[in-house]
Amino acid sequence: MANVVVVGAQWGDEGKGKIVDWLAEQADVVVRFQGGHNAGHTLVIDGTTYKLSLLPSGVVRGGTLSVIGNGVVVDPWHLVDEIARLKTQGVSITPESLRIADNATLILPLHRELDHFRENANAALKIGTTKRGIGPAYEDKVGRRAIRVVDLADADLLGAKIERLLAHHNALRRGLGIEEVDAAALKSELLAIAPQILPFADTVWALLDEARRAGQRILFEGAQGALLDVDHGTYPYVTSSNIVAAQAATGSGLGPSAIGYVLGIVKAYTTRVGEGPFPTELTDAIGEKIGERGREFGVVTGRKRRCGWFDAALVRQTVRTSGIDGIALTKLDILDGFETIKICTGYRLDGQVIDHLPASQADQARVEPVYETIDGWFETTAGARSWADLPAQAIKYVRRIEELIGTTVALLSTSPERDDTILVHNPFED
Ligand code: IMP
Repeated sequence: MANVVVVGAQWGDEGKGKIVDWLAEQADVVVRFQGGHNAGHTLVIDGTTYKLSLLPSGVVRGGTLSVIGNGVVVDPWHLVDEIARLKTQGVSITPESLRIADNATLILPLHRELDHFRENANAALKIGTTKRGIGPAYEDKVGRRAIRVVDLADADLLGAKIERLLAHHNALRRGLGIEEVDAAALKSELLAIAPQILPFADTVWALLDEARRAGQRILFEGAQGALLDVDHGTYPYVTSSNIVAAQAATGSGLGPSAIGYVLGIVKAYTTRVGEGPFPTELTDAIGEKIGERGREFGVVTGRKRRCGWFDAALVRQTVRTSGIDGIALTKLDILDGFETIKICTGYRLDGQVIDHLPASQADQARVEPVYETIDGWFETTAGARSWADLPAQAIKYVRRIEELIGTTVALLSTSPERDDTILVHNPFED
């Protein structure tokens, strides 16, 4: 029996919600290990839609412990709002069902303001962030001046930490012409929210270690996608955390051997939100059609997602950087009815064919995709529950993807409905 890590294998929005929910039902503990409320996970359970950003997907179903690990950046005001919103949907979240790592970093209003300021200041430097303060909060963590969950419990130390933080931020804000932050006001805001956060704070690494030793099933729920990883993604057009599967260990406080099976979530085509290179992007009617049929709009920001053909070279890369053992392929039905379908197998750069996206930002912008074209299918794949329900050409497409990315399909999702899934292999039973 393995613990399972779910990781997005493209630029996020691969349809993790449904797969995570299916796995969460079999798990004892569900852990978020990176990112923050920049994520948007939609769960549809018994006809009710739940939208989660920061909370692990296990919170909606009873009987699972949800954990926010140290690798997550936590906006305490957002957390309180998200908990309150779920309460209106009948989901009760208590310290018995949710634990937050006491060493997790907090996102503060000054982080959100800085994110907004930078994104709006200079179009040429824009990353296309979610403007939630994610990047600035991670900067402070690495800069050793962050306020962490545990600091909310010690008013004196909190004051000293705020001074240290503001020595940096107020100098920056003066330079940018933004009003300085008042230390006493920030401290009282934090002390006011503290009683709503501290009951959830815990020594998460120890708790997870005990769960692991007791043989409990742990599901590590990744957010975003590996191509937005700060090291392995399309830097600088990335988020500010590690997303690759190894982060499940670092971001929760367990050793790498705790990880077990790595399930990559892969959409049958490619999308991206925000700026940055996208070799297979379709800016024509085909791209529009994919976007409309796939309802490609962001859960968090409502932004229209850029759409393109499946890029096997990129997914092959993330299969390797995340050590993906198998994939869940989603949204195959969106490609129903196309006469031909293209798959990118590599890139052309300066007359040479290469099998991966180079690290250089300039080269990433210049590469041209090398395509293979296969015949499409006209039958519907939506709602298929066995291979026998799929047209031969659709199976050929899936098999070709497996060959090109170097791993196999463990689950094939054919609609947002939970039962519309072809199960080849249950990752928990590896
Ligand atoms: P940030 O994470 O808000 O700093 O945004 C950095 C980049 O990551 C931008 O391109 C965002 O659009 C992208 N991003 C962040 N979270 C998500 C997500 O959950 N899905 C897809 N893209 C995301």
